[in-house]
Amino acid sequence: MKQEELQAIASQLKNPTGEKGIEMGNMMNETNINMTRHSVQNLNIKKENKILELGHGNAGHLEFLFEQAENLKYYGLEMSELMFQEARQINRNFVSQKQAFFSLYDGNKIPFEDQSFDKIFTVNTIYFWQEPEKLLSEIYRILKPNGNFCLTFAQEDFMKQLPFTQFEFELYNTEKVQQLIEKTPFEIVYTETQTEKVKSKTGELVDRAFTTFVLEK
Ligand SMILES: C[S@@+](CC[C@H](N)C(=O)[O-])C[C@H]1O[C@@H](n2cnc3c(N)ncnc32)[C@H](O)[C@@H]1O
Repeated sequence: MKQEELQAIASQLKNPTGEKGIEMGNMMNETNINMTRHSVQNLNIKKENKILELGHGNAGHLEFLFEQAENLKYYGLEMSELMFQEARQINRNFVSQKQAFFSLYDGNKIPFEDQSFDKIFTVNTIYFWQEPEKLLSEIYRILKPNGNFCLTFAQEDFMKQLPFTQFEFELYNTEKVQQLIEKTPFEIVYTETQTEKVKSKTGELVDRAFTTFVLEK
């Protein structure tokens, strides 16, 4: 594949736009559903929790999230206008029932008040954070005391085999994430790495190692 094509894939993963972006949103939701479910399950969601997700893509996983407990409120934040629209369309019933709320933001300053959420999670977005330490302190600020943040990402060793990750992506392994978290007031409660089979762009099954950090305020 040409360098421009690889660059285009990386840009779509970072910020899906246009016709291709819709396809990318569907593909991401399908390929990453196991990581997303794992992240949600590790949040230990309780009834009436207020939950925030950063970078939800098309948010095709909300039915699964709402099965975790009763009377949940879900808030989604995106940087991609297209994913914001797609998520609202796919989840229009949850939106009209005022269970799901979607907004756009700049990727740095989170537009919510201090201590707003019981649980926060994000899957496959850390690679694109512009100022990771600052974003983590924003996440800390809007979490309620004892609230949890679940950070899920694919390991550098796997990601660096994908030719498009040379563009746009900052890759992480467990140690690098741990060092980043140690610069914040978060406590690490738990971390787990799993390997799963995923379909590669060329169709064959490959092993992907991914990690979840469960943090507490
Ligand atoms: C690779 S996709 C992952 C989508 C979904 N979480 C998944 O795992 O399938 C990255 C998504 O995060 C969004 N994004 C990129 N940087 C972000 C940031 N700083 N905060 C929130 N979302 C971001 C992109 O618009 C895109 O929809």
